[in-house]
Amino acid sequence: MDKIRIQGGRPLEGSIAISGAKNAGLPLMAAALLTDERLVLTNVPRLEDIRTMAALLAQHGLAVEPVGNAGRALALGGRISNTEAPYDIVRKMRASVLVLGPLVARVGEARVSLPGGCSIGTRPVDLHLKGLEQLGATVSLDGGYITATAKGRLKGATIVLPFPSVGATENILMAAALADGQTVIANAAREPEIGDLAACLVAMGARIEGIGTDRLTIDGVAHLYGATHAIIPDRIETGTYAVAAAVTGGSLRLEGGRIEHLGAVVRTLSDAGVDIVPDEAGLTVSRRNGLHGTDVMTEPFPGFPTDMQAQIMVLMSVAEGAAMVTETVFENRFMHVPELNRMGARINVHGASAIVRGVPQLSGAPVMATDLRASVSLVLAGLAAKGETLINRVYHLDRGYEAVEEKLAACGARIERVGG
Ligand code: UD1
Repeated sequence: MDKIRIQGGRPLEGSIAISGAKNAGLPLMAAALLTDERLVLTNVPRLEDIRTMAALLAQHGLAVEPVGNAGRALALGGRISNTEAPYDIVRKMRASVLVLGPLVARVGEARVSLPGGCSIGTRPVDLHLKGLEQLGATVSLDGGYITATAKGRLKGATIVLPFPSVGATENILMAAALADGQTVIANAAREPEIGDLAACLVAMGARIEGIGTDRLTIDGVAHLYGATHAIIPDRIETGTYAVAAAVTGGSLRLEGGRIEHLGAVVRTLSDAGVDIVPDEAGLTVSRRNGLHGTDVMTEPFPGFPTDMQAQIMVLMSVAEGAAMVTETVFENRFMHVPELNRMGARINVHGASAIVRGVPQLSGAPVMATDLRASVSLVLAGLAAKGETLINRVYHLDRGYEAVEEKLAACGARIERVGG
């Protein structure tokens, strides 16, 4: 199994091209199920999760093919020949559940393996199912599978989400696009990836108002059509490399990064003593002076993203003073803490909060990656630490970070992948 070896302690300097957003790409690919015409996506990141979604859609009957030579455009289209999303694929990636809404809206039936427990909490899909039921689908659970059926078109409804779930908003939005009549999603999630999905659906012929707000109004249409859509840059990758610049005391230009997608990350980094300067095509993040401990609480967008919690904790580990990091979106998302403590961090977890007492420097150690964002936090810690860090189980990283070693090495990091 591959490992990543890092010799830390070098400030990063240079430029990193931000890839397309994984969390936008996955629902956009599922949206291809809503039409029999071709959907072409550009700026597609080269990631394991994208390949998993391509495999899932292929077994539903769609052709998923690269367009051109650059390898960053995908054409998806074809007839749906199978409405079952099997356990073997869904267990690899929870986002597989995003085929549920499109399948039931388009062909009136879907059987999707129930995503199991996952390393960052129980993560139920009750809000997805309730939303689809409100649109008129009949939903049942049996043998570890969700079955959703509809006779004819789904019917528009007003759906008030008790929590702005990203995945539930996306599933309901896609299903409502083909429903008969008007759907209102109140307390909808406002993450930029939802705006991107809505923009693509509009290009496919959907009628959606309130994009970017917490109230989406969808006037269902009978058919959607092909379109070409460019995936937005990955805000979590942008934020992760911003922390890489800050934690090593370097300066990185993040090509394509959009400051308006970073939400509360900008304020947190600024309060901690990091400079962020946007320009017309990206942003530059640098840190020349000391870091200050700053409290962080994860929240739905535009609050501080839970997908940046592990990374910001690394920054706070070497800041002056203490910082309280509170996780409100997921339970059990502090698996990186024992690993960071093995590298010399001083972090104590109390329920949903962690007190991080800054230390002058981390020191390299062998560590174990447990999930996607925890893995990248160990890379960041390794970059900042004195000596060698060896990260085990890096397959998590390949699910969501494209060419991480190449991008960092080009900016002066001593980082390599080792087999075995
Ligand atoms: C998406 C992102 C993930 C990110 C998360 C929160 C993708 C592919 N993944 O995940 O990287 O960390 O948003 O920003 O875009 N919940 C329920 N019932 C439901 C649905 C969710 O209780 O039916 C709970 C979850 O257990 C969790 C919280 O709501 O505690 C947030 O989940 P949600 O916003 O749905 O996240 P995902 O769409 O799974």
